[in-house]
Amino acid sequence: MKRVTVLFGAGSIGTAIVRRVAAGGHIVLADYNETNAAAAAKTLEEAGFECSVIKADLGSRESIKEVIRHAQQFGEIFHLVNAAGVSPSQASVSQILRVDMYGTAVLLEEFGRVIAEGGSGIVISSQSGHRLEALPQEQSDALATISTEELLLLDFVQAITDTLKAYQYSKRCNVLRVMYEATRWGKRGATINSISPGIIITPLAADELKGPRGEGYRKMLQWSPAGRAGTPDEVGDLAQYVMSDKGRFISGSDFLIDGGTTAGYWYGDLQYLKQTH
Ligand SMILES: NC(=O)c1ccc[n+]([C@@H]2O[C@H](COP(=O)([O-])OP(=O)(O)OC[C@H]3O[C@@H](n4cnc5c(N)ncnc54)[C@H](O)[C@@H]3O)[C@@H](O)[C@H]2O)c1
Repeated sequence: MKRVTVLFGAGSIGTAIVRRVAAGGHIVLADYNETNAAAAAKTLEEAGFECSVIKADLGSRESIKEVIRHAQQFGEIFHLVNAAGVSPSQASVSQILRVDMYGTAVLLEEFGRVIAEGGSGIVISSQSGHRLEALPQEQSDALATISTEELLLLDFVQAITDTLKAYQYSKRCNVLRVMYEATRWGKRGATINSISPGIIITPLAADELKGPRGEGYRKMLQWSPAGRAGTPDEVGDLAQYVMSDKGRFISGSDFLIDGGTTAGYWYGDLQYLKQTH
């Protein structure tokens, strides 16, 4: 039996992470889009990794459980990487909340029941969650701890009407759920953390750059402290450290990797974005 790494969302960020942590083990690529997953599997196999592919929907508990059953055939689940998600230009409010908010919460709950001792998980959140103002404490507590099946029934979640807000609340929820779940995962000897990237050049980001907010994104990159977008490999390097033996004292944390964009949004040249974001 091998150490199993489960990757939800076989896109650019997710595959950059598994390449760094899964050598010698088995990688399960779980993706809604089987073509994406098969292409990622081919590239990984040609680079010496062992993989299997399963069609999965992050927004469905049944589908998540099926992925767990599939993964356990190969060994203990040692790593979970959640890099599946839909963005504000790609999906409706209800799809974003079902996949990015509810799906991630269920994923952490279900994998928290089976993760191996010494294992670790990473959830890809977003800088977008860092642009929401501080929420009232009771709203933060509810996003962190309310039972997964009640999450989308919260009044302030049901009141969300635009896709950008849906994305921001989902990503804030990811970070809070990771904190809550770190207390449960710790009881199994496992760690769970989130990474909040800024704009990273991937097909998802390319959709955003071409979408209705594209011009704004390009200006934001130009005026950010780093003056450029990030790459999936830079996110992969950070995840590798956090998931490695060196990261065993890190759990329930969120790591912003955005070239200083959030700093610029609150206190620098990007404050103009507060009018629209
Ligand atoms: N690229 C960026 O600039 C950026 C910035 C911040 C956060 N993120 C986050 O990173 C994550 C990965 O994005 P990426 O840029 O690598 O995108 P990507 O498009 O390369 O990969 C996303 C993958 O998720 C899959 N997916 C979508 N919905 C799914 C579902 N319901 N179930 C299973 N799989 C599903 C897609 O098929 C795709 O393969 C997303 O959560 C995104 O919000 C991306």
